[in-house]
Amino acid sequence: MSPSFFVTAMLAVAALAAPLIPESCDISHAQMALPANQTALAQPSGAPSFVLLGVGVQNYTCSAAGTYASAGAVAQLFDISCLVQSPAFDNVQDIAFLKPLTRMGDHYFVTSPSGTGISPVWDFRAFGRFKGNANAMVLAAKVANLPSPAGPQNVDWLQLKSVSGELATQIYRTDTRSGQPPASCTPGSALISVKYTSKYWLFGSTVVPAGNT
Ligand SMILES: *[C@@H]1O[C@H](CO)[C@@H](O)[C@H](O)[C@H]1NC(C)=O
Ligand SMILES: *[C@@H]1O[C@H](CO)[C@@H](O)[C@H](O)[C@H]1NC(C)=O
Repeated sequence: MSPSFFVTAMLAVAALAAPLIPESCDISHAQMALPANQTALAQPSGAPSFVLLGVGVQNYTCSAAGTYASAGAVAQLFDISCLVQSPAFDNVQDIAFLKPLTRMGDHYFVTSPSGTGISPVWDFRAFGRFKGNANAMVLAAKVANLPSPAGPQNVDWLQLKSVSGELATQIYRTDTRSGQPPASCTPGSALISVKYTSKYWLFGSTVVPAGNT
């Protein structure tokens, strides 16, 4: 048998043993870019724990005054850690052509712990390598917002902090695309959902994949 046969055979075995697409990529040097000179959002310290693409809708109800008021959001969260170093990263929220993106979880709103209002949740408990880990979620509260530097048609960039859960201590929403309601509405009209995408950066996670506890 030729040496090249052995190399080919060994590569085939290696390919069987290890997945060709890694489950996640090193993001220890990933830099979250905030607009120059803005002071609304504080720069996070340290490396992110997760970098996610959110694809979903922002919901609005029509107030008696005839303007739309935020009624939360619902989105699927995709792992984009393996795109951080690639040219696709900057515009991934624009490109619906999704490379090997892994669904990590969901983003949605629940009644706030105080019982009044609603709070955002990021939840990895039903998908991927954190599936079944009861701690793989975070319920958060807004700290600050920044109008999108790409224009008022996009929902604000946000800084949030954890209220409960181990998935993150800090969360940022950046690079938002769309999601704003029309300027006015007819009082009594139904809730509307406006499509949006954004990046979500989660910092300070202490969760470990299910089975590693
Ligand atoms: C940021 O501020 C500096 C100093 O005031 C200024 O020279 C620079 O042009 C500003 N950059 C942007 C992007 O506004
Ligand atoms: C937002 O609207 C979607 C339908 O577009 C719905 O599935 C979801 O439950 C709504 N979420 C909230 C918080 O109202």
